[in-house]
Amino acid sequence: MNRKDLLGLYDLSAEEIEEILTLGLSYKAALKRGEKEHSALKGRSVITLFYENSTRTRTSFELAAKFLGAKVVSISVATSSVQKGETLVDTGKTLDAMKNDVIVIRHPMGGAPKLLADTVKAHVVNGGDGMNEHPTQALLDMLTLKEHLGSIKGLKVAILGDIRHSRVAKSNLYGLTKLGAEVRLFGPKTLLPEGLEREGAIVCSSREEAVKGADAVMGLRIQLERQKAGNFPSLGEFAKYYGVDEQVLSHAKKGALVLHPGPVNRGVELSSGVIDGAQSHIEDQVLSGLAVRMSVLSLLGKEERA
Ligand code: CP
Repeated sequence: MNRKDLLGLYDLSAEEIEEILTLGLSYKAALKRGEKEHSALKGRSVITLFYENSTRTRTSFELAAKFLGAKVVSISVATSSVQKGETLVDTGKTLDAMKNDVIVIRHPMGGAPKLLADTVKAHVVNGGDGMNEHPTQALLDMLTLKEHLGSIKGLKVAILGDIRHSRVAKSNLYGLTKLGAEVRLFGPKTLLPEGLEREGAIVCSSREEAVKGADAVMGLRIQLERQKAGNFPSLGEFAKYYGVDEQVLSHAKKGALVLHPGPVNRGVELSSGVIDGAQSHIEDQVLSGLAVRMSVLSLLGKEERA
């Protein structure tokens, strides 16, 4: 991968995605062997700059950078000069002045990582921007699928829930279709935007249609504020008509993988039985996340380090 930044999967080629996944799989195997000391980022620095809450993405980027030998600094936006009105661009320039090498950013505004990337010399990695993209989440989902099912090409992947607001759904749609998977989407009509077919999705009219014969079933986190906005009547009704329980899952291929980006609302997007069941790969996704973020950080700027 010969690019300065990772902003989204919309921009990446199938070859670049495959390169990230291949290296990610070797890092995941190393992590399973207990190998946590690597040297790809020795002498480099990584700053995480999260304007939104995160457990998985932030922690796994920080561990990934440390396992690769980088010095890591985590900026707490709540106690930074952002609270004094400093703009994103000025914050970026300030971090550049410290000769920092990589910034991982999460921001509520779609496009904020691109604005930062256009401003700073450091490599910028998008850790989730508004309703736009969450590229490393989709990469970790694909890594999990590739590890367990061998190849993404030809897989049928059902994604259910709040498609409209989901950066995870968008990045998965872009990435999975580039690698030859069939992506089926289903959710409340209020949460299904127009134009998904143009991006290669199959928009389904029932859970059963989406899940039938699927190799993997992914639930998306419902943001609880969406209910207040009237996008669906109640959490109970969301679970009843759009969630995945054992009965819905029985329509998928035998042994289909159950995925969820987390954090999960138990009993809403997925029933507790599905979350804790044998087909659930939710915890395995977390390890894939660490591995794929090691891969992304290793590959960015590889040429200039060579
Ligand atoms: N999946 C995900 O982005 O989780 P966090 O919000 O905990 O980072």
